[in-house]
Amino acid sequence: MISLKHRKLLVGLLAVFSVLAVWTNRRTSTRVQDKVLIVESGEDELSIETVDWSRVAYVTYATSSDYLCNAVILTAELRKLTQANIVTLIEANLLDDHVTSLLTALKQSSTVVEIDSVDERASDSWDHSFVKLHSFNLTQFDRIVYLDCDALLLKPIDYLFLLPWDHQIFAHAYWTDLQLGSYLMVLSPSTHVFNTLWRLVKNRNKDKNIYDMDILSTVSPSYLYDPSHVGATKKYLLPAYPNIMLTGELKTKNHNTFLKSRYASQPLSDWPSMRQNISLVHFSDWPDPKPWVFNNIYDDLPVCDGLSCSDHQVWISYHQKYHSLHNKYCPS
Ligand SMILES: *[C@@H]1O[C@H](CO)[C@@H](O)[C@H](O)[C@H]1NC(C)=O
Ligand SMILES: *[C@@H]1O[C@H](CO)[C@@H](O)[C@H](O)[C@H]1NC(C)=O
Repeated sequence: MISLKHRKLLVGLLAVFSVLAVWTNRRTSTRVQDKVLIVESGEDELSIETVDWSRVAYVTYATSSDYLCNAVILTAELRKLTQANIVTLIEANLLDDHVTSLLTALKQSSTVVEIDSVDERASDSWDHSFVKLHSFNLTQFDRIVYLDCDALLLKPIDYLFLLPWDHQIFAHAYWTDLQLGSYLMVLSPSTHVFNTLWRLVKNRNKDKNIYDMDILSTVSPSYLYDPSHVGATKKYLLPAYPNIMLTGELKTKNHNTFLKSRYASQPLSDWPSMRQNISLVHFSDWPDPKPWVFNNIYDDLPVCDGLSCSDHQVWISYHQKYHSLHNKYCPS
């Protein structure tokens, strides 16, 4: 667990960030209002030696054979970098003959936890997004780092386990003001919290397109905490930098939202070095397709002129890396 000295340090940091968060909230209104605070990443502030690795886990999920392959890639790459448990959630109805070899590969790098299908009517990958909320139900662990598996791991990320354990933390969807992204979450599981969220999933208006992040964004922060657990009752956002960036960021010219956000107000001249420090990239080039849909990645290159030329190269390198991992772990 975290030492007192380090806790104090973090509390201090959080106080600074909460003032900033409240100040920024005054200027703009958001769905989540002033109930969200930005948490600083633990990095070297806390000691990694204090973590009991048997009590923590990385979690991801797969609900189609494409995502099963992504889960194989992500968990196999994670396995090289961490002693933590690695869990893949899959819906039981995914288990047919088509996926046997992927499932065998997946079981080499992670513990596969089968869950009941969330919604029989689910038709596209978004409909399955509630599966990730099951992370809250994995109470055999004290702390979980949840990751969508359509991501590329660039650096070790065990430092995320050093963030304060009484906070439920969500990636800051940095292109918005203070909205959360559920593609990276740092959570403390709780049956109480899971049951509360699951009730909301079951009772949602199915005629509206409601996804996991809508539930997580709109829920009162107190719903994310166990009443038996004294501590924070706020939602915390994890700064995008240096934790996670969308690949689509490399197709933007000035990186304003990334650079000018409150957690990384750095000049554009720092961008190449910031880019090198990023731990994870999430494949998200909307409206362009995900990398496994590309037959030829060169069909959709970002425009290379002036400043964005090196971004262009990096974007290609991420996709090439993905394709080489895909060939290695999921040969067709
Ligand atoms: C939550 O976890 C418990 C204990 O493992 C399990 O019995 C229960 O079925 C899970 N809930 C759902 C909705 O899957
Ligand atoms: C990138 O990370 C290195 C090593 O942690 C650090 O010294 C440097 O300041 C970082 N660069 C930026 C722009 O944040």
